[in-house]
Formats: sequence, structure tokens, C-alpha cells
Amino acid sequence: MGSGEEKQRWTVKMSAPSVLATVTVLSLIPGWVLSSQGLEAQQLAQGSTHLHRRLKRGWIWKQLFVPEEDPTPRVIGQLKSDYDRGEFSIKYILSGEGAGDVFEIDEYSGEIRTLQKLDREEKAFYVLQAQAINRRSNEPVEPQSEFIIKVQDINDNVPQFENEPYVSSISEMCPIGTTVAQVTATDADDPLFGNNAKLIYSILQGEPYFSVEPKTGIIVTSWPNMDREAREQYQVVVQVKDMLGLSGGYSSSTTVTVSLTDVNDNGPTFQHHLYTFAVPENAPVGITVGRIMADDGDVGVNARMNYSLEDLEESTTFRIQTDPVTQEGVVLLAKPLDYETKRRFVMAAEAVNDHMDTHFLSYDEFKDRTTLKIIVEDVDEPPVFLAPVYEWKVPENAMMGTVVGTVSARDIDTVNNPIRYSIDKGSDLRKAFRIDPNNGTITVAKPLDRETLSWHNVTVAAEETKQNHLSATVAVFIKVLDINDNVPRLARDYQPYICEGTQAGELVQLLSAVDPDEPVEGHHFYFSMVSEKHINPNFTIRDNQDNTAGIVARRSTFTRKDRIHFLLPVVVTDSGSPALSSTSTLTISVCSCQPTGHCPTGGVQALALSMGVSIQTLLGLLLCLVVFAADLLC
Ligand SMILES: *[C@@H]1O[C@H](CO)[C@@H](O)[C@H](O)[C@H]1NC(C)=O
Ligand SMILES: *[C@@H]1O[C@H](CO)[C@@H](O)[C@H](O)[C@H]1NC(C)=O
Ligand SMILES: *[C@@H]1O[C@H](CO)[C@@H](O)[C@H](O)[C@H]1NC(C)=O
Repeated sequence: MGSGEEKQRWTVKMSAPSVLATVTVLSLIPGWVLSSQGLEAQQLAQGSTHLHRRLKRGWIWKQLFVPEEDPTPRVIGQLKSDYDRGEFSIKYILSGEGAGDVFEIDEYSGEIRTLQKLDREEKAFYVLQAQAINRRSNEPVEPQSEFIIKVQDINDNVPQFENEPYVSSISEMCPIGTTVAQVTATDADDPLFGNNAKLIYSILQGEPYFSVEPKTGIIVTSWPNMDREAREQYQVVVQVKDMLGLSGGYSSSTTVTVSLTDVNDNGPTFQHHLYTFAVPENAPVGITVGRIMADDGDVGVNARMNYSLEDLEESTTFRIQTDPVTQEGVVLLAKPLDYETKRRFVMAAEAVNDHMDTHFLSYDEFKDRTTLKIIVEDVDEPPVFLAPVYEWKVPENAMMGTVVGTVSARDIDTVNNPIRYSIDKGSDLRKAFRIDPNNGTITVAKPLDRETLSWHNVTVAAEETKQNHLSATVAVFIKVLDINDNVPRLARDYQPYICEGTQAGELVQLLSAVDPDEPVEGHHFYFSMVSEKHINPNFTIRDNQDNTAGIVARRSTFTRKDRIHFLLPVVVTDSGSPALSSTSTLTISVCSCQPTGHCPTGGVQALALSMGVSIQTLLGLLLCLVVFAADLLC
């Protein structure tokens, strides 16, 4: 390579310097020597051969190595120009990173010294510039150049675990070699220099259950059948050491918390072989009779339980369901109880795991059985009437003391207390009945009148005479039956009239009758005349056989002149047994019936009216009087 080319490249390097390139370039430029002093021969074995090699001309540029944490001041190297003849005519100048405060140069000898302790982890290398100037001419003896001081690592950093804390969980009963976690440590020392950052992991605590791979920090299980129910958590302490674990290195440790998660490797076991519960006989359906519990070493889903009752007839009176919170079996009453019928129930109960994993247990191991004994307790219950309601009939003419009927109630308890009967006073205000307190026989106490009150609805109470005096009531409906105790009467106050000129056989008045009695087959009235020696020549009564009858004229020649009214007794008879009858005497007026067929007011008043206004009538009356007088005279 010719010198012209060297000059050219120098120029280029000066304008665009780069550390490595500069070293390369400067090593080709004659005149400089950089030597290293005071360094450990071993550490600098390679470098020192270069440093001390003196090229024929120019700088010898290599990196300078300085151990970190070395005490100061210390000579770490020397710059020397080929032109330096030892006359101190050359002045060496140092500039760049750390020049003056970290490093200084002896301007006469070119010796470079440290002024401070260096820390590689803080700054691993320094880039500096060196100049050599002729003291007299102030001209550079050599071109300015850069060199590097590299800080050499010592093991001054402790390895540190990352990502702490470590928490892991594995399934219980997992096979040997199952990965638990990986711990990782870092070391700030130089990973490329010696073993300062070469880390080795080992277990301090956790054997024989766990082991760690020395290089990777992967923790694996090393014990078979780790049982969560025996121990749920482990603290595994892992140590890391640098210097490949050799003595003299640094170490630190971390703790890995390992939890075992549950698998279904336990079946249910009842806490007792026999459960005894008591329940009162009057307990309502649905009530909780008791709780049974099968333990399961597992947790969560693996401890979920299904309960069932096994015994055929007896189990229908009860049912069982699982309490979702406690996993207990809750025994409930499904049917009403009766102490007097059945006093105890015995049945089997079974608990079965909800989730069965036959990987760990056989199917049968997920079940357990126990016995349930349920005692029915007696409760003092009120008496019970043999009929829900009583309905009786009594004739209204019944004698005092007549038996109407007998109510009967019974104490259904085993004690069977005697019972006293009574009639609720409010329901029998008239005190029409009395009850025998001992045998429940109800008798008539007062005359009954159907026409006043046809129903006596009374309340009868039955009370136990001992213990709690519990009582019950029953409704008694007493119907008063009719007897024929009322006479029939004409339906109204008839005021019949007959028109002058009425023909024989014509109807004068239609009659009907009433009777407060209520015969079972309905009313049947008979109408008749009072029987006399002579048949009435003027009127007759025709019974229509339908509870009506007609007064019918027997002759045609009724005139007011002849007679203005007739009296007609009418007999009404009912169909009762015995039959009752009444006689009413009707007054039949004779009416002129003007206009034809019409008797304006009818009856007796027509007479007075016609006397007042009608001369014809007045004349008639006078005539009548004359006739009457004549009759008397005759
Ligand atoms: C109830 O007792 C009375 C006496 O108080 C008696 O006359 C009656 O016959 C008894 N009735 C019955 C049904 O035993
Ligand atoms: C009594 O009971 C009968 C039958 O239930 C009923 O027809 C009647 O109206 C009741 N009478 C009274 C006064 O409550
Ligand atoms: C029938 O009519 C006649 C003539 O008016 C009278 O004399 C007689 O007393 C009447 N008989 C009766 C029973 O009313």
C-alpha cells in the first residue's frame, strides 16, 4: 500500500471517525506506540502481545484493558510516538470520554492513569483521542487519533431472580416429571467474560418432591402420588449461583409457592351410620325434617353430592335434596304424617359423587350409604266430628224433648279424651234446641213454627274435657217440616155482583184461596156451600178442581126490584190431614149493569149511588118498599 493512499484514507477517517475503523486505520499510521502497563498478565495475555509489538513506524493502536473496581491511581498504559527520542520535546494530550476526570495522561511520558474506580456495569468502554505535539513548534508530531479503553469485568454482581414471586399450581397425583414452573435469574456481570454470569440453579428446600434443572431453572415434580388431601401447598426454595456454582461466586434464592389442585380421588363417607330425626305429626308437608352429610376429602366439583332415599314404601313420605351450598342432604316431608297410623320410618339414604372420575377410584367408591330413622311425635289434636256437616228435619209440631239427631266427635289422639258437646248460643238465639253434653243428642226445647222460621242452622261445638281442651265445631242444619196448622182462606175480600138479566148458569165470581202451610205435594183447596136442608135456588158453587171455583147463577130473573143483595157462605177446605176449612160469607149485590154488563163500582156502594142519582132506581126502591109493605100487610 503506497503512502499516497494512506494519506487519503487518513483524511477520510478524520472527517468520519468510527471507533473500530479508526483503530484499524490508525494501526496503519506510523509513529505511535501505545503500550499497556500494570495489567494482569493473565487478563491481557492476548492483548499485551499486540500492545508491546512495536511496528516499524507509527502508532500501535489496540484496546486498552482496565479491570473494574481497581484501586486508583494506577498506570494503565502509555502513549509513545516513534519520534519521541526521550528529550521531552513532545507533549502528549488526552481528550474524549473521561479525559481529565477518569483518565489523565503524563504529558511528558505519555503514561495514562486512572483517576477513579471504574464500573463495567456502569460504562463498559471509553473512547478517547490522543495527540502528540512538538513543544517548540506546536506542530503535531503525529496525527490525532482515537483509541478505546475497555473496562474489564470482575464478578461483582449477584445474580437476581426475575418475575418474583413465583406461584404455581399442579394437579395432585400428577406423574413424576410434571413441569411446575421455571425460575429465571440474571447476572449483571459480563456474560462473555469468564463465568461471572454463568448461572446454575439448585434446590435448597422442596426435595424430595421437586427438583430443578441446573441450567434452565425448570422445576419438575420428583415424587409420585402427591396427595392434596394430605398436603395442599409446598414452598420450594431455589438457589442460583454464578461462576457455574463454583465456590467464590455469588448466589441468591427465591421461593416458589406450589399448590396442588384437586382431582376426584375421594368418595363420600357419611358422618354417621344412623341418623335419627323426630318430626311432629302435624308438621306441614315440605318442612325440613333433618340434614345428613357425607364428607368428601375433595373440594369444589369433586365434592358435589347427590342424595337419594332408598326404601320403597317408606321413602315416599319423605324426599331428600342436596343443599347446593353445604352439600348436605336435606330430608323433607313429602306427605302428611299421622302418629296414630305410623310412628316411625326407617330407610336407607345414599350419597353419590356428582362427578365420578374412574381414573382414580372405582365406580362403587363414589358412593356411601347410611340409615335414617324418623320418629313421628304425637301432637294433641282437636276432636273430629264423624260427619263434616249434619242436616236433619223435624216436624213443626214436634213435642218438647223430641230427638232431632245426634252429633258425634272423637278425640283422634291415642289418649282419646272424653268430649263435651254444646250448642253455640249465638247460632240458636231462640234456644229452640238443647244438646246432651255427653252423647251429642239434640232435642227440641221449644215449640217450632215453620211459618216463623223454617231453618234452624246451629253450630255445635265438641270440646275435649281434659289436657288442652281443644275443640272443634260442626254446622247442623235443622229444617222444620210443615204440618197443616193453618186454615185456608179466600184469596181476597171478594165483592161479587150479579147483573140484572144474568142468565142461569152464568159465572158470577171466580174464587181462589190461600194457606200459609206448605204441604209437600202442594196446595189443594176444595170449595163448597154450607150444606142446608134446602138447596139454594139462587146460586151454586162450581169447583174447578184447580184450586179455583166459580159462583154460578142458578136462575135468570135477578132484579134489584126483587132483591138488592144475597148472602152466600163459601166453605174452603185444604187437603191436609186432618183437613182444615174456613167459611166466608160473601155478599152478592144485584147491579143494574148500565151500560150493559158493567157495574161501575160493583157491590154495596152501587146501591147508594143509584139511590142518589137515578130516579128509576129511586122509583124501584119505593116500589120495593111498597111491595115490602104490601107483603107485611099480606
Ligand atoms: C243421650 O243421653 C240421654 C240422657 O241424657 C238419653 O236420654 C238418650 O237416649 C241418649 N242418646 C243416645 C243416642 O244415647
Ligand atoms: C240454613 O241452611 C239452609 C241450607 O243450607 C239454607 O237454605 C237456609 O237459608 C239457612 N238459613 C239460615 C237462616 O241461615
Ligand atoms: C132466593 O131468592 C128468592 C127471591 O128473591 C128469595 O126469596 C130467597 O130467600 C132466596 N133464597 C136464598 C137461600 O137466598
